[in-house]
Amino acid sequence: MHRSEKVWLTLSFGMIMLFMLATGYQSYALEMGPPSNMETIDPQKVDQTAPFDNPGVKQIGDNEYEVVMTLQVFSFNPGKLEFPAGSTVHFTLTSKDVVHGFQVANTNINAMVMPGHIQKITQKFDKPGEYLVLCNEYCGAGHQMMATTITVK
Ligand code: CUA
Repeated sequence: MHRSEKVWLTLSFGMIMLFMLATGYQSYALEMGPPSNMETIDPQKVDQTAPFDNPGVKQIGDNEYEVVMTLQVFSFNPGKLEFPAGSTVHFTLTSKDVVHGFQVANTNINAMVMPGHIQKITQKFDKPGEYLVLCNEYCGAGHQMMATTITVK
């Protein structure tokens, strides 16, 4: 091989590596997965896996609640939640089928809920009112119907 050919080969290979690094190729290749360190779960066995074998609302302290919720086409279980004003609510969520969204209007809650992963969110509800809970990831024919409410009073 001619010497200048080698030089150019080396240079162009170096350029490719640089571009890969610059575009974050490495991080994609090394950690193919969701951005945060979410806990995982077998999406086929959600009903048998704690805590999702017993979804619902549990009071765990003064003004502190834990909600274990499953999302599935096209509902939130449990839905229609109710808390006293000033409550801190810890949500533990997973999907039983496809990717859903968990967005609560007038709060900062806006999360993706994926099958195989457990999503945890904590939110304090100070203002009384009815908060609309929406799925904001397209999940099929009934996506628009997938909504519930959180009432704070
Ligand atoms: Cu669930 Cu859209």
